[in-house]
Amino acid sequence: MAKNILITGGAGFIGSHVVRRFVKGYAGYNIYNLDVLTYAGNLENLKDVEGYSNYTFIKGDIVDVDFVQSLFAKYDFDGVIHLAAESHVDRSISDPLAFVRTNIIGTVNLLNSARDAWKGAYSKKRFYHISTDEVYGTLGSKGLFTERTAYDPNSPYSASKASSDHFVRAYGETYGLPYVISNCSNNYGPNHFPEKLIPLFINNIINNIPLPVYGDGKYTRDWLFVEDHAVAIDLIFHKGKGQETYNIGGFNEWQNIDLVKLLCKLMDQKLGRAKGTSERLISFVKDRPGHDLRYAIDASKINKELGWEPSVTFEEGLEYTIDWYLTNGAWLEHVTSGEYREYYKKMYAE
Ligand code: NAD
Ligand code: DAU
Repeated sequence: MAKNILITGGAGFIGSHVVRRFVKGYAGYNIYNLDVLTYAGNLENLKDVEGYSNYTFIKGDIVDVDFVQSLFAKYDFDGVIHLAAESHVDRSISDPLAFVRTNIIGTVNLLNSARDAWKGAYSKKRFYHISTDEVYGTLGSKGLFTERTAYDPNSPYSASKASSDHFVRAYGETYGLPYVISNCSNNYGPNHFPEKLIPLFINNIINNIPLPVYGDGKYTRDWLFVEDHAVAIDLIFHKGKGQETYNIGGFNEWQNIDLVKLLCKLMDQKLGRAKGTSERLISFVKDRPGHDLRYAIDASKINKELGWEPSVTFEEGLEYTIDWYLTNGAWLEHVTSGEYREYYKKMYAE
């Protein structure tokens, strides 16, 4: 029997990889991609699945109560995979309310619709909320985030994601809504919007623009190739235990400055530039306020229960990503024209 799956935020970075995996991998599912197409949403990311008969794009806002209710009534969804969000920490510092609106109110709106539409049929349904490791706050130089680490968010972005996670759990406890949550570390790969570290720096290197490293560059992130995240999401959606959380990470910690130097080295090779050319673009700039020192995930639960582990090394994934950006110049050009230039000027002035 066909399953109707609602994926929110499917035109964004991670969402587009999840939509592609489900549309191509599950011919028996009807995939409905609900996305309002903010600056981060881009239908170019999904050109290759546009013509599939099991794929429908719906332009709309997850905050719109009547609209979301009408979708649940019309399509009788069996499952929701909720990725739509405002996702960039720096933007959350300049406009926290936008993050409250989409990440908290939008999530609660989806939960209300699922709760009401699914009444009496909870055993056959699943609400899967995609979240981030940033809800756990920051680590010192040692230790890992586990599923039992207390929430301690430090940015408006992570506070809004933490709040949405709490609402999902609360709907499970209060109304019995069937849910699962995952908290993932930093993703990278094709279609990543060039406001985030890796695609921003790839774009700057191509265009010989300085590379703005925040603070001393000693901040540490745990990087995961986006398609490995999509595989984890597929496994958790189908086989994860209900009313539980799974941490997902790359077993792959890098200090920003070391990552940037590796990126510079690979870019010099790819662009046929002399060794050291891109490194000369590194510029240490004012730090991000509330900057979390270190994220690192203990992904042993998903590994033991579902057999998941990353399939590519960081070097392989990074090289693949660089090649993607170099061969998709038109994509990069489209997303860095207009509004992006204003954003860049405002964010990196001084
Ligand atoms: P993104 O910013 O690339 O994409 C977000 C998508 O949501 C866009 O297509 C946008 O148009 C859509 N959207 C935003 N507001 C909406 C609204 N009100 N209604 C409907 N659609 C709306 O984000 P991403 O990096 O792909 O992240 C996706 C999810 O994964 C987010 O929930 C994020 O918190 C989470 N996450 C991201 C990372 C990462 O490294 N990027 C890591 C862990 C978790
Ligand atoms: O950990 C998961 C999170 O990873 C996701 O929930 C977020 O949606 C995603 O944006 C990402 O958050 P970060 O803040 O870690 O990612 P970002 O790419 O913005 O920054 C990575 C590191 O690089 C961080 O320490 C800040 C630093 N940085 C970033 C930018 C944009 C710089 O030094 N210079 C920059 O210009």
